[in-house]
Amino acid sequence: MPNSMIEINGLFKKYGDRVAVNGVSFCVQEGEIFGLLGPNGAGKTTTISILATLLPPDEGQATIGGYDLARQTNQIKPLIGFVPQELALYPTLSAWDNLAFFGRIYGLRGTPLKERIAAVLDLVGLRDRSGDAVRTFSGGMKRRLNIAAGLIHQPRVLFLDEPTVGVDPQSRNFIFEHVERLKAEGMTILYTTHYMEEAERLCDRVAIMDEGRILALDTTKGLIGLLGGGVIHVGVAAEAIEDLLPAIRTLPHVRAASAQDSRLKVETSAARPALLELIELCNARDVPILSLEVLEPNLESVFLHLTGKRLRD
Ligand SMILES: Nc1ncnc2c1ncn2[C@@H]1O[C@H](COP(=O)(O)OP(=O)(O)OP(=O)(O)O)[C@@H](O)[C@H]1O
Ligand SMILES: [Mg+2]
Repeated sequence: MPNSMIEINGLFKKYGDRVAVNGVSFCVQEGEIFGLLGPNGAGKTTTISILATLLPPDEGQATIGGYDLARQTNQIKPLIGFVPQELALYPTLSAWDNLAFFGRIYGLRGTPLKERIAAVLDLVGLRDRSGDAVRTFSGGMKRRLNIAAGLIHQPRVLFLDEPTVGVDPQSRNFIFEHVERLKAEGMTILYTTHYMEEAERLCDRVAIMDEGRILALDTTKGLIGLLGGGVIHVGVAAEAIEDLLPAIRTLPHVRAASAQDSRLKVETSAARPALLELIELCNARDVPILSLEVLEPNLESVFLHLTGKRLRD
């Protein structure tokens, strides 16, 4: 097995005229939790569906476990587990029967099937509800069963597409703990989310995705390093902006400054001293500050910095 469990190169996918995935490339190492972080419509589900062999790409190549996605699907399928964003469960069947259904798809029968069902029910903490129909489950329990279904055949690679959407905080923590346990057991995990806290907590590396493209890819720490000490947005009268910019660029704690949406966008090496320097400069020039926003360095502000958009509105 190669070190890179997943390698994708130049993936491209259109739905009609709409480009959903626009030249995406990355590698996921064996045993890594890799996060795809992006807002609605970024192309996360499309990317993960291609890798889960459910959707053919228009262009590009990928390998999973060294097998070619286009030509060796049969070798890839047993290696991967897919937990879709939309729940894929039969509401009238019990938890046990749902898992039996998915297990049979992977060729499990008899005692091995029963053992696997019991193991994954334990893993997601649903053993005592195994006989109940899924329609009687809470949102969080359904999510957990959805994850169990993706694990029934002991895959080595798990695709989790927004596994915590619509889940209460307790189930959410439960899911985090499972994901961490699966990683400790050596599983490779591709995790999509639009919650930056999840990416920060769980992922070894994060790709920031928007409009079908990867804008940045690094460890959380490395991505946050892109912002240096933080970014300050200063609202001043439009006619003052061009005047102020050259002076701002010479301030000791300022790395770069530009005009963005009729505000000054100031990238700093340290936000606090830079803020004092900016206020002093505006006062000295008699320019009233109309608004002020300091973006502390975290994944959300990195995203805003890269795209000019917020992850969630
Ligand atoms: N079956 C489809 N038919 C047509 N367009 C689609 C289809 N699926 C997705 N798209 C479009 O492709 C783009 C990417 O969608 P995708 O579902 O991959 O995004 P996403 O990052 O998973 O978003 P979300 O966070 O909302 O789940 C969007 O513009 C979406 O409208
Ligand atoms: Mg999606």
